[in-house]
Amino acid sequence: MYNDLRITPSILNVDHSILNAEIARIAEDSDLIHLDIMDNLFVPNLTWDFAAAEEIIRNCPIPIDAHLMVNDVDRIALDYARVGAESVTIHVEASDAPIQTLKEIRKLGARAGLALKPGTDIENYADLLSNIDMLLIMTVEPGFGGQKFMVEMMQKVRRSKELIGDRPIWIQVDGGVSMETIAIAREAGADTFVAGSAVFNAPDPAEMVRMLRHRAGDL
Ligand code: DX5
Ligand code: ZN
Repeated sequence: MYNDLRITPSILNVDHSILNAEIARIAEDSDLIHLDIMDNLFVPNLTWDFAAAEEIIRNCPIPIDAHLMVNDVDRIALDYARVGAESVTIHVEASDAPIQTLKEIRKLGARAGLALKPGTDIENYADLLSNIDMLLIMTVEPGFGGQKFMVEMMQKVRRSKELIGDRPIWIQVDGGVSMETIAIAREAGADTFVAGSAVFNAPDPAEMVRMLRHRAGDL
C-alpha cells in the first residue's frame, strides 16, 4: 500500500505476548510496521534482541521499518537488511561511517533511512541525502513512547524538504504523532508518520490508523 503518504505504526509498547495478534489487527490499514530497536546504550531503554527482531520481521504480514537506536549501528544495520527489513534507519549520531553503511543497506536490497535526534541539525548532513531513501526527523528524544510532540521540529522538517528538493526521499516523523499533531507535520512536509500510543491506546487501532491517514491526507 504505497501512497504519497504512509502510516507506520510503532509496536514499541504493544504487549509482547499478543504481538502477532496486534500486528494482524492493523496490518491491512498500515503501510509498514515500525520496529524500534534500542540497546540501552544509545538510548536508556532496551527492546528486542536481534533473534526476536528477526522473528518479527519474518512473521510480519507487511514490510518492516526498522528504527535502530543502537550504538554499534554500522554493523547491526546490515544484519537487519540481510534478514529482510524493508527499511533500515540508522541514527547519524551513532554511526562512524554513515555513507558506507547507507550504501551497504541499499546494496542488500533495503531502503536506507537516516535519523536525526531533536538536537541534531540537518545542515551538517545535507551531503548524505543522495544516499538515503528516508529521512527520520525525531519529534521526541528517542527512547520511549508516549512523549509530547516537539512542534519546534517542524522547522527542521521544512528545511529538510527544501534540501531534498525533488528527490524521492520520504520524510518521516516519529514521536507524539496523533490526531492533534499529524496535520501539523504533514503541513510542514512530512509524508511518513510513526504513531505508537495514538494507535495502540485507541479502542480500535485499525480505525485510528485510518483516521490518522485521513487527517494527514485531508490537507
Ligand atoms: C521513540 C520511538 C518511537 C515511539 C513512538 O524513541 O522511536 O517510535 O514508539 O511512540 P509514540 O507515538 O507514543 O510517541
Ligand atoms: Zn521509532
